[in-house]
Amino acid sequence: MPYPYVLLSAAVSLDGYLDDTTPERLLLSSPADFDRVDEVRASVDAILIGAGTIRADNPRLLVNSPDRRAARVAAGRPEYPLKVTVSGSGDLDPEARFWHSGGEKVVYTTEVGAARARALGIAADVVPLGAELDWRRLLTHLHDERGVRRLMVEGGGTIHTQLLRQGLADELQLVLAPLFVGDPDAPRLFGPGAYQGGRLRLTGTRRIEDVVLMHYEPTAPGTGTLPAAADRHWLALACELAAQCPPSDTAFSVGAVVVAADGTELARGHSREAGDPQVHAEEAALAKLDPADPRLAGATVYSSLEPCAVRSSRPTPCARLILDAGVRRVVTAWREPDTFVTAADGSGLLAARGVDVVVLPEYAERAQEPNRHLPG
Ligand SMILES: NC(=O)c1ccc[n+]([C@@H]2O[C@H](COP(=O)([O-])OP(=O)(O)OC[C@H]3O[C@@H](n4cnc5c(N)ncnc54)[C@H](OP(=O)(O)O)[C@@H]3O)[C@@H](O)[C@H]2O)c1
Repeated sequence: MPYPYVLLSAAVSLDGYLDDTTPERLLLSSPADFDRVDEVRASVDAILIGAGTIRADNPRLLVNSPDRRAARVAAGRPEYPLKVTVSGSGDLDPEARFWHSGGEKVVYTTEVGAARARALGIAADVVPLGAELDWRRLLTHLHDERGVRRLMVEGGGTIHTQLLRQGLADELQLVLAPLFVGDPDAPRLFGPGAYQGGRLRLTGTRRIEDVVLMHYEPTAPGTGTLPAAADRHWLALACELAAQCPPSDTAFSVGAVVVAADGTELARGHSREAGDPQVHAEEAALAKLDPADPRLAGATVYSSLEPCAVRSSRPTPCARLILDAGVRRVVTAWREPDTFVTAADGSGLLAARGVDVVVLPEYAERAQEPNRHLPG
């Protein structure tokens, strides 16, 4: 069930506010940064804002540059990204500029909200998602029904907070503006509540006139069988490690990463690491850890290929090593084919002993790439 790549975009004051409490929208970005935002908008399939931002700012949410719009059309894409909003109540202003500019629009709402939005004559595709709005259903709908692969979310704080806290944001593009709001009633970027423990990963910074743009990625694994955005990042790393394995005609090339619940990388490994012709990726990674490390109980093992259940080279298969380490969650891209062992089913072995196993088949191609030369 793949989701679109979700990019949160926001600008905040030095004291962490998204806006002030005056009726006019507070301009936090610099002109060059507004142009950068326009560029990001032109690169995505859809842009989403909450109903609160439509009410507060009455934005058009367009790609303003004619050249960027022309480039989209030349590339066979719609001139404007799909405009998406979210409203539980359906209590939307039919005259708002959002509905009367740009390309297609869609409102995700509840059953009750859909009746209200339709009665108001909202000029958009109104999609009810049940009695309550579920973000995973919304993202699946955008992906499957609307073909959205990259989604830019431009706020406000209620929306950003939910997507980050539910582990659904792939990236945060945050602009820090050199001014203060100083009003506790003003909206903040992130509200109170439970966020991932530990630290996000800073992947880039850029000065743009007098503001600073920062790129962050969440790092905390999901819980149970629900995949989080960070799971995809870690599994992509495992696939990169698989590509670094010394080639072999008699064994798979696999990468593995062990990550604590707070997003701290504990260890990584790959097949045939450090001149050991028989070592497996998960084995190499787990061997770097103290078996008494208390973080293992809450950790996730990412492995580009499911952990082996049967092994001829050494007595203990990787699924058993994972169980012995006390790890309760495994994320993998690819179920083991019958190349060397028939019906191996390491995932089944783990699941039968209470481990949550998540397979993300959208990474299978990357995981298979360094193994293309193997039979079958
Ligand atoms: N600086 C920036 O980068 C930036 C960007 C955007 C916005 N802003 C500012 O942010 C402020 C608005 O933020 P906000 O937090 O008040 O509003 P918001 O996040 O834009 O929208 C919140 C609304 O979205 C709907 N919604 C959100 N989650 C939902 C869920 N799970 N189920 C059903 N409906 C849901 C609800 O609409 P209903 O009430 O209709 O049910 C809710 O009231 C404004 O002041 C704006 O200027 C700043």
